[in-house]
Amino acid sequence: MQARAYIMKKNYAAPDEALYHVGFSASSLEGARIAVLPGDPGRSEPVAKAIGGDARFIASHREYTSFLTQAAGRKVLVCSTGMGGPSVAICLEELARAGITHVIRFGTTGTIQERVSLGDVIISKAAARLDGTSAHYAPECFPAVASFAVTAALKAAAERCGAPCHVGISVSSDTFWPGQERYDSFTGYVPRRFRGSMEEWQALGALNYEMETATLFTVAQSLGLKAGAVLGVVVKRTESEQVAPSYVYDKAFGHMADIVRLAVGQL
Ligand code: URA
Repeated sequence: MQARAYIMKKNYAAPDEALYHVGFSASSLEGARIAVLPGDPGRSEPVAKAIGGDARFIASHREYTSFLTQAAGRKVLVCSTGMGGPSVAICLEELARAGITHVIRFGTTGTIQERVSLGDVIISKAAARLDGTSAHYAPECFPAVASFAVTAALKAAAERCGAPCHVGISVSSDTFWPGQERYDSFTGYVPRRFRGSMEEWQALGALNYEMETATLFTVAQSLGLKAGAVLGVVVKRTESEQVAPSYVYDKAFGHMADIVRLAVGQL
C-alpha cells in the first residue's frame, strides 16, 4: 500500500455547542482568534483587564476561567489552562474547535541562569519536553517549538516597550519538585536521573524551568495552531528554590501585559 498525503481534519464546534471542559461555546468568543493563556484561573480577569482594559466574563469550569477582552482592535480570549500538560492539551483541543488560531501562554517560571533577574520576562522559542502529555501527540524526537511569527511579534513588542526580556529555551517539567531538581520537597529526595540535571540544562544554555510550555508548543503544532509563550521570572534558582515575594510577580506581570498587548496587534 502506498502512503497517502495527510490532510488535517478540522472538527470545528457548532456555534452553540457547549465545549465540555472549558464550559463555553464558540459563539461566545465573538470571532476571537487569539487566546492568552495564564495557568492560574484567578489570573484570567487581571490579565484580560491589563491587556484590554475591559473584561467580559465568559465561563468558569474546573481549571478553565475565561474572559473576553479587546486589544489592538482584536477580540482576545483569556482562558486559564490550569497547571501541567494534561489540562493544557484539553484546553487547546477545545479552543481549536472554537476557532482559536493563535495562543500565547502567560505564565511564571524559575530561571536557572545567573544573568536573568527576578521580575524579568522570558520568551520561549522552544522547550525541552520533560512532560508526558506531548508524547501522546508527537514522538519524543519531535521538537517543541514556538511559532516564529508569534515569537517575533512578542520579541518586537518587548523591545518597543523596553521590557527586560530574554529569548531562549525553556525546560518544561511535569513536576515542580523532582523534575526541576528541587530539594525542598516533603522528603527532600530527588531521583537519581534528575540529580545534576539543572547543571546540565544550564550547560546547554536553557533559561528556565516551568510546567506547560513544551506541551503547549507540541500540541499546538499538532492541531495547526500558532503558539508563543511569555513567562515572568519569579524564582532565581542560582540563589534559591523558593518563589519570590508577590511584588516580583507584579513587576513581571506589568511587562508581560505590555508585551502581549502590543504583540496582539501584529498577529
Ligand atoms: N513555575 C515552575 O514550574 N517553576 C518555578 O520555579 C517557578 C514557576
